[in-house]
Amino acid sequence: SDGSDGGDDNQIIAGTAPGFEPFEMTRDGELVGFDIDLLEAVVDETEYELAEWNEYEFDSLIPALENGNIDVIAAAMTITEERQQSIAFTEPYYSANQSVLVQSGGDFAPEALEDLEDREVGAQSGTTGETVVQEQLIDEGLISDDQYTSYDNYVYAVQELERGLLDAIVIDEPVGATFADSRDVEVAFTFETGEEYGFGVQQDASDLQTALSDGIAAVRESGQYDEITQTWFDS
Ligand code: ARG
Repeated sequence: SDGSDGGDDNQIIAGTAPGFEPFEMTRDGELVGFDIDLLEAVVDETEYELAEWNEYEFDSLIPALENGNIDVIAAAMTITEERQQSIAFTEPYYSANQSVLVQSGGDFAPEALEDLEDREVGAQSGTTGETVVQEQLIDEGLISDDQYTSYDNYVYAVQELERGLLDAIVIDEPVGATFADSRDVEVAFTFETGEEYGFGVQQDASDLQTALSDGIAAVRESGQYDEITQTWFDS
């Protein structure tokens, strides 16, 4: 450091969006989850130091990264071409598909997206689940704009689903399955999207990008990746 900015160049700030179990959530006031443990283990393999975690709504993470308020996004964020227009990603660290959640024990049992016709559907703002709703339900004329509700956080969507205010939620499958374990909701069906999560970094941060990608490979090799997976997923 040159000392003028009061910080060390190797100190990085991470941003996440809790309410996405088991990847990131708040428990007893503490930020915990798969992404939290994984990024910390990965950064430990590099010459960087993780100074701080900041919490945002999911759709504010990319702006926060672009503004330089954070250096890395760890938020179960799917690597997409659209996002790669504004940010860069590490190598993938987790694969996921999408699922549709419904109220438990209700009589609505959709088996495919077409079955959501004329239903009230929810997703989190800025997610790939929302893109599915937009492109495969609204654009296809299966539901109207008014039948879609966008939430800042999936936790609110799940609460409304439990109360019967929504018919269905589109959500990443591992997270839908986790909500189904603890809430009055169930996974009606899953569908393949082949998504891969990466840590997001600024487009000009290629040193950090490479260090984190190498770190991911190192924690896979050392067995830490499997340990963290076992901590956060029943297996
Ligand atoms: N994987 C999905 C996406 O990239 C959902 C991520 C939501 N993450 C969160 N921390 N709320 O859009």
